[in-house]
Parts: sequence; structure tokens; C-alpha cells
Amino acid sequence: MKIAITGAGFVGLTTGVCFADKGHQAICVDINEGKIAKINSAVPPFFEKGLEPLLKKHINKNFTATTNLKEAIKSSDITFITVGTPFDGKQIDLSYVKAVSREIGSALKEVDKYHLVVVKSTVVPGTTDDVVLPILEETSGKKAGVDFGVGMNPEFLREGEAVDDFSDPDRIVIGGMDDKSREVLESLYQGFGSVDILRVNNKTAEMIKYTSNSLLATMISFSNEIANLCSSIDGVDVVDVLGGVHLDKRLTPIMPNGERIRPSFVSYLESGCGFGGSCFPKDVKALVNFGEKRGVRMEILEKVVSVNVNQPFQMINLLAGHFPDFKNLKVSVLGIAFKPGTDDVRESPALPIVEELAAKGAAIKVFDPIVRAESESSLKELNNITQAETLEDALKDVDAVLLITRWQEFEKIPELLKKLKISPLVIDGRRMINKTAVPKYLGIGLSQDPVFSK
Ligand code: UGA
Repeated sequence: MKIAITGAGFVGLTTGVCFADKGHQAICVDINEGKIAKINSAVPPFFEKGLEPLLKKHINKNFTATTNLKEAIKSSDITFITVGTPFDGKQIDLSYVKAVSREIGSALKEVDKYHLVVVKSTVVPGTTDDVVLPILEETSGKKAGVDFGVGMNPEFLREGEAVDDFSDPDRIVIGGMDDKSREVLESLYQGFGSVDILRVNNKTAEMIKYTSNSLLATMISFSNEIANLCSSIDGVDVVDVLGGVHLDKRLTPIMPNGERIRPSFVSYLESGCGFGGSCFPKDVKALVNFGEKRGVRMEILEKVVSVNVNQPFQMINLLAGHFPDFKNLKVSVLGIAFKPGTDDVRESPALPIVEELAAKGAAIKVFDPIVRAESESSLKELNNITQAETLEDALKDVDAVLLITRWQEFEKIPELLKKLKISPLVIDGRRMINKTAVPKYLGIGLSQDPVFSK
């Protein structure tokens, strides 16, 4: 099939390239000329594992990129909306969705066959039917359900795993205003094997996406609340506590041979210094606001947000318990990306942590295997920050090391400290290091006194 994808961000570009890889003809549209030029020269404008080789394979064959939305839509059967839906501080900002809907509608004027418009952006329930559809009708002068269809097809792509998540999905949610919209949308997904397909209306599709992300975010904040309580109980470590919880066979089923299945779902039931990224924080807040507008208070999700906003400061509290005065304290911050496998720093817990350390006068070294401090505008402007070029460099000549992102490379910390014969205080924000493997250790969910290895 011929597909246009409007918005060549992380979701749009991944969707376009992966549909091309499944044999469709895809064209990505964006207003940013620089981005389009980059894509057409086979360079993804962001880092995403596995995307570049696929882009190279399909560019100028069954995949291309353009700034010409009208032409892209005229030459397609289906148009996806994959523009951003940021949180404006109060509610979801639909301005990009509305703007692109208007453009798609005006392009539809010149389309003389049935066309399907599908919202893939994460939007609150009712957006597709009550915002996008009327704009399309108004700007095209055509009738939804007759001249064109409207669908909603949420994405479940994890950054860093997006190509695999797209190509080998766990579910495909087919939302549509009517059977015809759903049928056309579903035909696009032939060739995805025997995956579970859920056929629903647009509002349900929208709600599934928010509920999925809210559940995962809730598990993280729940684990963090438990961690914070554990750290106040002498001799209790949240890693042991949650480890015991994970052994519930409803979470890690036992197979006939006695081995356990450990679904990756369980890894959201681990404590740390908070969740970040472009999705969980904004989606949970948007759902809370959506509930408020409907007179339904989302009390659990409100707390999911507030626990998470406070969680990075647990790292600061742990440091302050050991070094009450941060003035000229030499601190290394390991990890800026919001999670491993990505260069995305949006809502990363590293940002408030570095800002707080800087405000309190610490001398900060920053190291991340992919992200450089100077590429992040909020860090660039702070005083007293230096970029460490290697992990070894980051560990040298500091009083404390704050481990923020679960990069695999950081597993080498105990070995490196031994080699360098140094013993800074290590504060583990991801509980990924054995607490007795480094000379001085503190961690989220562990009582304040540092663990001193023998
Ligand atoms: C998340 C969802 O996992 C995707 O299913 C969804 O499609 C996407 O949002 C979206 O709405 O577009 P993503 O933000 O890429 O994907 O990140 P995750 O890998 O889920 O990580 C989010 C947060 O959870 C991170 O801060 C991470 O540190 C934490 N996390 C992640 C865990 O605590 N445990 C894990 O096993 C994975």
C-alpha cells in the first residue's frame, strides 16, 4: 500500500521505514527541511538502534521523505498523523495535530478516491473523533465515512527498541470510526505474523495507549515509594524486598522444568531515581488533566507524577547525608540519557540532579556513553560542569559518583575503582552494582549508612 506519514520524528520515521521494510511504499513528511535532507541522505536525525541500516536499505526505493505534504497525500492511500503531542504544563497541546489535520484536509480536496487518515500520535480519548475528524471534514469539504475514513492506531514503541517493537509487535490496536476504516487499516498489517489484533473504536484505541503507559509508570512510582520507605528501615534493602515480590508466580511464572519466566514487565517493578522520557511523564499528566476535565479525579496517577518528580532528589538526599556541604564537592554524574540505548534526555532524572548540584556549588563532571553535556541546553548554561571523556576519567579525582542511567558500561565501575585504587562514594540510582563490590556504596532503597565493603 502507499502510505504518507506526517511528522518525521522518532515515531514517524520509525513507522515509515519499518512499513517500507514490510513491503509498503512509504513517504515521510515534515516541515523541517534540514531533517528531510538528512533523511534523504540516509542519516536518521536521532539515534535509534537498527534504524540507520533499514533507512539505507530503503531510501529512494520504497521509502522517501519530503516537505510537500499535498503531493505525499495525493500519491497515498493512507495518511498517518505522527506529530508531537507535548504537555503544555496544564494539558496536552494539540496544536500540531490540529495544524497537520488542516493541511491533510485541504490536500484531501484534490484526492478523488477513498483515503484513510490515521492518528498515531498519543492523544486523549475523543481527539480523533471530535477534533481531527471535524477539521478534516471542514477543510476538505468532504464527508467522513463516505469520502474518507478516520482511524486511530497507537504505537507501543520503546525508544532504543523501536525497530524491533514495530517489526515484531506484541499487539496491534486497530481503531476506526467504522468497519471500513478498520478494514483498510488492518490490511496494512498483513505480514506481521500471528500477532493479536484488537479492533475497537477510536476512543478505546486512544484510551488503551494512555492506560498502558500509566500502568508502567505506576509500577515504577510504586517501587520507588516502597524504596523510600525501605531506606528508612535499618537493615532493609529494597532490592531484596522487590526480589521477593518478583518471585510471586503470578509475576514470574514457573515452567514445568522449574525455571522461571521473567517477563520484562517485572523490570518496571524495580526502584531507582525516577522515570523520564518523552512519554511516561507527559502521558500520565495528560490523563490526570483529562480526568479532571471530566470530573474524575485520578488520585493514583496524581501521586505517580509527584513521587516521580521527587525521586531524583533522593540522590541528592543520599549525598547530603554523607557530605552536608556541596560547596566545591567534586561529584561525577554518570548518565544523562533518560534510559540506556538512547540519546534522548527529555525529562531525564539527570537534569534536576545536575541542576541541584550546580545550584549548591558542587564541581560536577558529567559522563554518558552517548550524550555530551554541551548538547543539552539546560546543562550547557550551568557553571562548574566539565565533560568526562571516558568512564575512567569520570571516576578519577571525585568525592562521589552518582549513577543515574542504567548503561551496561557502568557495570565496570567496581573493576575500574579497583584498578585505579580509588574509593569515591558511589551512589547507585539504579541499584545495578553489587553493594559490596565498591569501597563505599549508597543506593536508592537502602538505609542511609553507606555500605563499606570488607
Ligand atoms: C514507553 C513505553 O514503554 C512504550 O510502550 C510506549 O510506546 C512509549 O513509552 C510511548 O508512549 O511512545 P519509552 O518511553 O521509550 O517507551 O521507554 P521505556 O523503555 O518504557 O522506559 C520509560 C521509563 O521506564 C524510563 O525512565 C526507564 O528508566 C523506566 N524503565 C524502563 C524501567 O524502570 N524498567 C524497564 O525495564 C524499562
